[in-house]
Amino acid sequence: MLKLNCKNSDSKLIGYEQGLNLEEEFNSYAERIADIIRGLNQRKDKPGEWLQWMNLGYNEETVWYVKEYASLVKGRFDNILVLGIGGSALGGLALTEALLKPYWNLLTKEQRSNFPRIFFLDNIDPDSINGLLEVLDLKKTLVNVITKSGDTAETMSQFMVIKDLMQNALGDDYRKNIVATTDKKTGILRQLADQEGYKIFYVPDDIGGRFSVFSSVGLVPFALVGLDIDKIINGIKDIDLELKNTDIHQNIAAQYALVHYLMNTKKNKNISVLMPYSSRLKYIPDWYVQLIAESLGKAYNRAGEKVNTGITPVKALGATDQHTQLQLLNEGPNDKVVTFIKVGEFGTTLEIPKIFEYTGIGYMGGKTVNDLINAEACSTMVSLADNQRPSLTITIDKIDEYNVAQLIYMLEVQTAIMGELYNINAFDQPGVEQVRNYMYALMGRAGYEGSASSIKEKMCGII
Ligand code: PA5
Repeated sequence: MLKLNCKNSDSKLIGYEQGLNLEEEFNSYAERIADIIRGLNQRKDKPGEWLQWMNLGYNEETVWYVKEYASLVKGRFDNILVLGIGGSALGGLALTEALLKPYWNLLTKEQRSNFPRIFFLDNIDPDSINGLLEVLDLKKTLVNVITKSGDTAETMSQFMVIKDLMQNALGDDYRKNIVATTDKKTGILRQLADQEGYKIFYVPDDIGGRFSVFSSVGLVPFALVGLDIDKIINGIKDIDLELKNTDIHQNIAAQYALVHYLMNTKKNKNISVLMPYSSRLKYIPDWYVQLIAESLGKAYNRAGEKVNTGITPVKALGATDQHTQLQLLNEGPNDKVVTFIKVGEFGTTLEIPKIFEYTGIGYMGGKTVNDLINAEACSTMVSLADNQRPSLTITIDKIDEYNVAQLIYMLEVQTAIMGELYNINAFDQPGVEQVRNYMYALMGRAGYEGSASSIKEKMCGII
């Protein structure tokens, strides 16, 4: 099971000015936290609460259909190409990077046990799209177009380009190379899938993109590349039970949320750095950035008061970013909480040969790279504490489907708890919609003519 150590945020270790008296705080917030956890679990099935992601550990029907589809298409495609953006891409990207063998796309088909390579197009850079299209044989590519709303311009523009090329290459058979993941009832992709006859998976109601990785949004690509989605689901089911515990002393999501909330509101620390010491986990911070930024960055609270809440999420990677960010973390403004992710047991061991013993690097000979990365993690933790900088440490036993799914789910639950502590709606994103509307106006979408002239006027002098 996932472990969380909060010791390095405690005033006993980093002093009263920067640290929290955790025992006192956990006790004084115990009732409020218990209410929040009870409240989330009571509201989770209520339409419009956007809490259906809390039920994804129990969605056996979808798991069955996804596995059936994956076994039907196994061996037919060399590549999976995921089209999606934000919450429709980041979870998939983070988990495939963590769970597939490193450098998956460079392995031979045999090394991949006949499972396809996987690519994510989560931007609309013409050069990178054209570059990828030069590399991929579309006839041997299964495109998974993922958009809950069904009309996200970035995703649907890519889809329009690729659908056209595919149809030219394959004729009417192109349909067999497309699987759509979208809303059950509404949206343009939903209509197109019906008209054109694409295989379709649904994103359940009341699940926002950034909380959707354990729905068909993530499960379809995971199953297509051979990840064990039963283990993923078992992982979140098991941790969901733990995180239903209303006692903050027993609930790591509640502890994580409360430490961040109090560090922000009492100690003025408004930056949250997530720093795994594992390259396989390197995209988890990208996913976390969206989760924290979109969920907690809000203008108004639930009472309608202007609050402008939020903490700024920052991604980092240990040990690499010891050589880029550590100087700032140790000596810059003391306005951050760093969360380390430490791996209990790596998948492999790499010994450092006993050579160059007569030089200053000889001390490493006979040790392992595993020892080295763990020593670097511990050294960073201790040095931050020496400088009265708060940190938390999550330990994940090993990098597999069960454990990484638990890590992701715990971070989702803690975000929901933080939203309640701030008394904001953690599940909407009004600040994103405004930009979408401006872009529709600029690109000439019908119904947005009015805003077109106003945005063009505002653009004068900026561009
Ligand atoms: O978390 C969110 O809701 C967003 O990041 C969306 O996932 C993103 O905007 C893509 O939306 P859609 O899935 O509708 O294409």
